[in-house]
Amino acid sequence: MMNLTLFVSFFVLGVIGWVIYKIFIWPFYISPLRKIPGPPSENPITGNFKELTTEESGFSEPQHRWVKKYGNIVKYHGLFNEPTLYIADSKIIQGMTLSNTYNFVKPFNASALAIAGIGLFFAEGENHRRQRKMMNPAFTYSNVKEMAPAFVRITLILKGLIENEVKLGKSNINLSPYLSKTTLDMIGIVGFSYEFNSLTSSNELAAAYESVFNLPASNLRIAISLLANYVPLVRQIPVDINKKFKNACAIIERVSKKLTEEKYNEAKYGELKGKDLLSLLININKTLPDEEKINDTELKHQIMTFLIAGHETTNVTTCWALHLLAQHPHEQDLLREELVKAFPDKSNFNPTYDEINSLEYLNCVTKETLRLNPPLPTITRTNLKDENTPIFIGVSALHKSTEIWGPTADKYNPKRWLDPSSIKDVTNLNYMPFFNGARGCIGSKVALVEIKILLGMLIRNFVFQPIEGLHIRRKVFPTPKPEPYLGLAVSIVES
Ligand code: HEM
Ligand SMILES: *[C@@H]1O[C@H](CO)[C@@H](O)[C@H](O)[C@H]1NC(C)=O
Ligand SMILES: *[C@@H]1O[C@H](CO)[C@@H](O)[C@H](O)[C@H]1NC(C)=O
Ligand SMILES: *[C@@H]1O[C@H](CO)[C@@H](O)[C@H](O)[C@H]1NC(C)=O
Ligand SMILES: *[C@@H]1O[C@H](CO)[C@@H](O)[C@H](O)[C@H]1NC(C)=O
Repeated sequence: MMNLTLFVSFFVLGVIGWVIYKIFIWPFYISPLRKIPGPPSENPITGNFKELTTEESGFSEPQHRWVKKYGNIVKYHGLFNEPTLYIADSKIIQGMTLSNTYNFVKPFNASALAIAGIGLFFAEGENHRRQRKMMNPAFTYSNVKEMAPAFVRITLILKGLIENEVKLGKSNINLSPYLSKTTLDMIGIVGFSYEFNSLTSSNELAAAYESVFNLPASNLRIAISLLANYVPLVRQIPVDINKKFKNACAIIERVSKKLTEEKYNEAKYGELKGKDLLSLLININKTLPDEEKINDTELKHQIMTFLIAGHETTNVTTCWALHLLAQHPHEQDLLREELVKAFPDKSNFNPTYDEINSLEYLNCVTKETLRLNPPLPTITRTNLKDENTPIFIGVSALHKSTEIWGPTADKYNPKRWLDPSSIKDVTNLNYMPFFNGARGCIGSKVALVEIKILLGMLIRNFVFQPIEGLHIRRKVFPTPKPEPYLGLAVSIVES
């Protein structure tokens, strides 16, 4: 009895000691990062997390203030005061992207891993090297250009739906659900020839995916998904949120399995004719030596990988692009002029890959949107070679640095991309919406043509204006989205 009490007391003391060490001693007196300047911790449990997740209406995240105040390498405190590096220095970023890529792994991956599995996005080291090498040929120019007709087809459905609303006399339109569904339908088709048809009907995979990623983010939900990164067991607690999560995972698993099996059956009779990424991967796999192949499980995991990596990113980019064009009517007019000139006949506007990419101003508008509102404003890594230090790469801080972009760094100005002198300091190490190197976005060409077709066709057909009295804020966490929603006043371009 005595022994047990003694044991428990020691245990409790041990835990308390460890917690005090982790939260109050290690970060400030021992961590190799302790001397790096940065904002003081606001709270021992949440560190600087609260400031980081505060909604902002401007373009500026708290990190930008820190970079201005403390320099291009900032240390702040994460959960439980964990020292975290925020880096906006292109030399250091170069070391992480181009040379020592595999020393820096992705942290915070438990929840996403449970759904996506180890596809390209979550693979590390040799496994990633093999998958990436195998998948690269699926994303070449000749394959991506075949995707344009699918993007045009879905955009035409969207165009019809918006036109109907306007013709029914409704001009103030909430575009958030429309763009969310459009981009989901698009990645379904080009990713794995799956017709979500979410613009026009409901669908079980869309619902499952929605329930995992897109439920209103309650505090409990955020807490559980954050905690699951450290303690996977919290996913087993039988609360409603976890049950829904499990159900959704089961549906995703079943549908992905069915999709790959159908493709395999088809593939028995020779090369697959489909232009979707899944078909391309199966065809490529057949031509490779055994050690370079990917197996069935890995292929199945690419389905969710494409959805997670390719849906929300293009969704929010198009949302911000329209928001910015509505805020800047002159720029919207310039873009429409370019489109009208290239495609005088509105009813016969089915751009090809090359046609849409030849539009100079559309290209500037897309680049400028991704500069001011990169869907991934910070890239997170853990340094395996250095005490597992969490590192945040400050993409958005670089995108708004006056040292690189001059005094108008935080202004929307698509034309800057046409003026060599105003972009003379821009490189792929300080402008990187798609990151770069071996872990950069594999789908950037897909994303750009998708966004341009969607944007080009919408601006050719409609005029977008702000709704009076609707104030659209910029949510910064977990992804930068327009809040409360993207509402715009829409009218039809007559000819
Ligand atoms: C505007 C749209 C997009 C943006 C801004 C974007 C950005 C990024 C970024 C920054 C990364 C690196 C993330 C990290 O390492 O932490 C990434 C990776 C990735 N993206 Fe994209 N992406 C977009 C669209 C897409 C699309 C449409 C697809 C699929 C067709 C896609 C597939 C992927 C994949 C598979 C990875 C993992 C690559 C690897 O680790 O080797 N992305 N993306
Ligand atoms: C998940 O992240 C941890 C680092 O936090 C890393 O050690 C592990 O390899 C990652 N897992 C995968 C599959 O990427
Ligand atoms: C798409 O963007 C809108 C914001 O305009 C957001 O409300 C919606 O949740 C996004 N959908 C996805 C799947 O990210
Ligand atoms: C790749 O080829 C191997 C061996 O032929 C096969 O077992 C595997 O299922 C194939 N993987 C894919 C994704 O087609
Ligand atoms: C597929 O490869 C992964 C390694 O990436 C391995 O863990 C898994 O067991 C393999 N699955 C099958 C069915 O061979």
